[in-house]
Amino acid sequence: MVTRLTGSGAGATGGIDTSTPNVARIYDYILGGKDNFAADRQAARQLLAALPDIAGTVRDNRAFIGRVVRFLAGQAGISQFLDLGAGLPTQDCVHEMAQAIAPDARVVYVDNDPVACSHGQALLGPRDRVGFVLGDLRLPDQILRHPEVLARIDFSRPVGVLCACALRAGRGETSSGHRWVPRPSRTGQLPGYHARHCRGRPGR
Ligand SMILES: C[S@@+](CC[C@H](N)C(=O)[O-])C[C@H]1O[C@@H](n2cnc3c(N)ncnc32)[C@H](O)[C@@H]1O
Repeated sequence: MVTRLTGSGAGATGGIDTSTPNVARIYDYILGGKDNFAADRQAARQLLAALPDIAGTVRDNRAFIGRVVRFLAGQAGISQFLDLGAGLPTQDCVHEMAQAIAPDARVVYVDNDPVACSHGQALLGPRDRVGFVLGDLRLPDQILRHPEVLARIDFSRPVGVLCACALRAGRGETSSGHRWVPRPSRTGQLPGYHARHCRGRPGR
C-alpha cells in the first residue's frame, strides 16, 4: 500500500522525503521518469505486479493530456492553464507542451501533497510564467485567490483547467481518499473557460 507522507524522514534530501513512497514519484517512475527514489520504485513494481495494465493506462492518460493541451493552446487559443492534481512536472509537462505552441503561455500546477509541491517547485525553479502551488482542488476558492495563481493567471481571459487522474476511478474521490465536488458554477463563470477532467481505470 502506498503511504502518503509528511515531513522529512531518514532519507530526506533538500526537504524532500525520499524514504517513503510518494504517489507523484511512483507515477513518474511508471512513465519512465528519473525523479523518483528507491522506495518509489519498489512501490511501483508492487503496483505493476498487481495491476499490469496500469502502465498503459498512465501512458494513455499523458498522451491524452498532450492532445488536450495542444488543442487548447493551438486551436482554442488558450494561453493560461491551471493543472489541478498535477503530480510532478517531469514527463510531457503541460508548460512545455503549451509553450511549444504559445511561447507566452502561463501554467500553474496545483497539488495538495506538500512533497509533490516542494519537489515540483525545486524541479521548476523560479519562473515568471510557470508556478507550482500547494492547493486542494476541493477548495477552488483558495486556488483562485492564491497569490501565486493571481500573479500568473488573468481570470478576465480564457483559462484551460486540467484535472487528470487526481480522482479515484468510479468513486468520485480524490486519490487522497476525499470526496471531490466539481464546482462548474464557479469556474464556469470565467469567459472562455475550458475544463478537462479524466480518471484512470486500469483493466480496460
Ligand atoms: C496520479 S497523479 C496525476 C498526475 C497528473 N495529473 C497526470 O494525470 O498525469 C495524482 C495527483 O493528484 C494529487 N491530488 C490528489 N488529491 C488532490 C486534491 N484533493 N487536490 C489537489 N491534488 C490532489 C496527488 O497528490 C497526486 O500528485
